[in-house]
Order: sequence, then structure tokens, then C-alpha cells
Amino acid sequence: MSSAVPTGGILSLMRRLHPNPADEVSLADCYAADRPRPAHRPWIAACMVSGLDGSTAVARSSRGLSNATDTRLLLTLREMADVVLVGAETARLEGYGAPRGDRLRVAVVSRSGRFDFDSPLWTSGRAVLLLPEDAPEVPVDSIRAGVGSLDLAAAVTRLDADVVQCEGGPRLNGMLSAHDLIDELNLTLSPQITGGSSDRLTFGAPEAVRAMDLAHVLEEDGYLFTRWLRRREP
Ligand SMILES: NC(=O)c1ccc[n+]([C@@H]2O[C@H](COP(=O)([O-])OP(=O)(O)OC[C@H]3O[C@@H](n4cnc5c(N)ncnc54)[C@H](OP(=O)(O)O)[C@@H]3O)[C@@H](O)[C@H]2O)c1
Repeated sequence: MSSAVPTGGILSLMRRLHPNPADEVSLADCYAADRPRPAHRPWIAACMVSGLDGSTAVARSSRGLSNATDTRLLLTLREMADVVLVGAETARLEGYGAPRGDRLRVAVVSRSGRFDFDSPLWTSGRAVLLLPEDAPEVPVDSIRAGVGSLDLAAAVTRLDADVVQCEGGPRLNGMLSAHDLIDELNLTLSPQITGGSSDRLTFGAPEAVRAMDLAHVLEEDGYLFTRWLRRREP
């Protein structure tokens, strides 16, 4: 949601390695897919970038892992979503601003409810806080579920959305994974080993194996753009 990034929908040609290898494919075509709404909740697609050593941040930001095409991918995917779901720490550290266009909304997961409510994200009127019921009062729209800890599964059902794009961070991903709420993972593998001690893609979730099927692999400049779908038994 940073205002520094270009608008989405820009044509970007890259190689598709799987399936049906092809030299020139577009991001928009590759990611235009059916995202059927599961019963009682929106489709939830996570979008993340990771280093080769599993890092998710450099100097507490994902920017050191990303590149221009990865940014375009993020924006392309936002155009296919109704709501961007983001953890409070990511919204604060990555400086989320007002959503672009007049359609997209932002839902921020927090326990403390501590934000600068004068910032453009909140003055846009298109952001909502997802909070536990006993969290402090806030001067913006909120959805409250759970006591002490957000009941994320209940909160997402109240988002009035068909497709939700989750943009992390790892603790929010962990909360989603704990409830088996990740239907799709769009994971960019950045060709760098970064060291450091950033968290892996999910953090804090109890161990539970969620099988994913590979939908595609695209490549440009050594960056791999992978799309994975949750394997659901019929
Ligand atoms: N590589 C990538 O693609 C990528 C993507 C996103 C973020 N990141 C990086 O990830 C880091 C931030 O991720 P993170 O995992 O620390 O934080 P996060 O998932 O962005 O946000 C966590 C926040 O969720 C709230 N929370 C946690 N547990 C809760 C619960 N049980 N109930 C209600 N709210 C709860 C808390 O908000 P309050 O503190 O407000 O209470 C907590 O600070 C940053 O360095 C960012 O750059 C990387």
C-alpha cells in the first residue's frame, strides 16, 4: 500500500517454466484464475517473498528481497482481490498507505489497536481493524472476534469479500495456517542468501502439515514466481 510503488496492470513478460513452458507470458494472464469462495468465508491468497535461506526480511523490511517485477505482481494480485489482509507489524514497518483506486479495502490484524490513526491508511476510510473483543476502543471501523486473542476464522467471515489477499507477515500467516485458511500461496523466491534472523513464512502456528499443489513457476532474472494451491480432499 506504499505510495512509492507503481500502479498495477503493467505488462511484464517473463518465462514460464511450469506448466507448458513458454518464453513470453504476462503476469496478468498467469494469475487470472478462478478463486471460488469456500463456504462461509472468502478465498484467502497469501502473497510473500522469501530469500533462498528462507528469510522474509532484510533490516525488518521485505524490500531487500523484492524487485520491480515482484512489486508488479503484488499490485496485479491486489487488482484481483477485494480486501488486503495484513498484520499490524507489517502495516507499521512497511508503511502501508491508503489503498489505490476506489474499490480495494485493507483489514489490519491487531491485538493492541495502537496506530497513528491520522495516517493516510486510516484517514482513507477504507481500512478496518480486526481486534479481539476486549481490545481497547479505536476511532476507526473494527471487527471484533474472540477474547484475549483475535478469532481470525470468525473475523474473516465478516469481511464482505470474495477474495482476500494476505500480505503477511509471518505471525499473521501463522494464525491463518493454524486455522487452515490459506487457499493459495503466491511465493516469490528471491535469488539471495541474506542471513539474519527474520522469521520464516509462518511463525507461531502449531505444527500441522498442509499439502499444497504447484500451480505454476515463472522466472525472470533468477527470481522464481511460484503459485501454490491448497490441496483439498473432495
Ligand atoms: N517477505 C515478505 O513477503 C513479508 C511480508 C510481510 C511482512 N514481512 C516482514 O515481516 C515482519 C513483520 O511480521 P510479523 O510476523 O512480525 O508481524 P505481522 O504478522 O505483520 O503482525 C503481527 C501483529 O498481529 C497482531 N497479533 C498477533 N497475534 C495476535 C492475536 N493472537 N490476536 C490479535 N492480534 C494479534 C499484533 O498486533 P499489535 O502489535 O498491534 O497488537 C502483532 O504485532 C516485518 O519485518 C516485515 O517486513 C515480510
